[in-house]
Amino acid sequence: MKKIKLGIIALLFFFFSPLPAFSSDFVVAPPPKSMDKYYADSGRISEWIAQMRKLSTAFSAIFVSLDKENWVLAEKYSAKFIDSYKKASEMIPEWKEEFDLKAANELKESILAKDMKKLGRASETLGKTCSHCHSKNNTSVWARYYWPSTDTIKVLDPIDEKELPYDVFMEKLSDSLKRISVNFEQEDFQQAWRSLDVFKKRITSLRSVCSKCHVDEWTKGSTSVKEFFVGNDILAVLQEIKKDFATGEPSEKNFRKNIDYINKRSCKTCHLVHQPVAAIQQAWQQKN
Ligand code: HEC
Ligand code: HEC
Ligand code: HEC
Repeated sequence: MKKIKLGIIALLFFFFSPLPAFSSDFVVAPPPKSMDKYYADSGRISEWIAQMRKLSTAFSAIFVSLDKENWVLAEKYSAKFIDSYKKASEMIPEWKEEFDLKAANELKESILAKDMKKLGRASETLGKTCSHCHSKNNTSVWARYYWPSTDTIKVLDPIDEKELPYDVFMEKLSDSLKRISVNFEQEDFQQAWRSLDVFKKRITSLRSVCSKCHVDEWTKGSTSVKEFFVGNDILAVLQEIKKDFATGEPSEKNFRKNIDYINKRSCKTCHLVHQPVAAIQQAWQQKN
């Protein structure tokens, strides 16, 4: 009974390891080119992911079997694990060194010998290969294969009536928002009203870009992705500003509060979600 406990401890160690797996000089480099082919068909589960799930399930099954003191089953799964772990190590040549095939073999040997000490060591070593590679590479893989690039996206500018690159459109959007405040400060409320109309047209136009990346939008539930950042709450706040303007003596406090709402709920929150990856992708492009 005592021996089996050790196996459980090894399992817990693997799943809850508090050791920092990130290095302090964490670098987000583009994933190896040889990975591209496993993500070529965006409509299907990547072959890399499928392989990960295979080896991961086999790995866990070893410990579940040990937990039930079923050594025969544990050995069967360890053979399965070696196969799938080895196959993964051959899929991306640039990452071969990240795998420890020796430790995988030792895991199987330790099960055959019912050697708990060796088993604990081997599973810990193996677990570290998983977490080391994940912390080093997952961010890169996600930025490369899950996020479409803003480079390929054009936004219709309703004022210029032209399709503009994403970042150019952002500059225009930003400019039109600032103009509202400048006009307000100069107490030119008529001009501020016009600037607000321009801004409203631009932020409404931004709604059309969401579906260029959020393609399965229509198959989701009743909440549209467009409720975020460019939703009706933003338009309602613009309407409120206008109503205040119409009084002829708009309150500065209300005006600031409303502009702050737009800055925070539209611009800033959307940037927090979408801009880091756009920045990573652009850094990669500059290197090429
Ligand atoms: C050489 C690098 C590397 C090694 C070693 C590695 N992985 Fe992975 N694994 C990845 C990458 C990269 C992803 C992210 C893939 C993605 O999200 O598209 C991943 C994803 C996964 C996933 C998530 C699959 C999903 O459904 O999204 C699981 C589970 C997993 N790995 C388990 C393991 C286990 C268990 C080990 C060790 C026994 C391991 N991996 C070793 C690189 C590695
Ligand atoms: C360049 C591609 C791109 C564009 C354009 C884009 N998004 Fe996203 N967005 C993503 C990706 C990728 C994610 C990560 C999660 C996912 O795939 O849904 C994400 C995540 C989100 C999330 C977090 C949770 C969720 O629902 O996925 C929200 C909310 C969101 N986007 C809203 C928007 C809105 C609103 C717009 C348009 C005004 C927009 N996005 C435009 C790529 C994009
Ligand atoms: C759909 C999400 C989204 C919303 C809403 C949004 N932005 Fe952006 N913005 C982005 C992304 C993504 C980038 C990075 C684009 C790139 O670099 O290609 C960006 C970039 C910018 C930039 C830098 C442009 C450059 O030269 O790289 C400015 C300025 C900007 N946004 C202003 C604003 C303002 C002001 C608002 C609010 C009125 C706003 N954005 C609303 C997603 C959004």
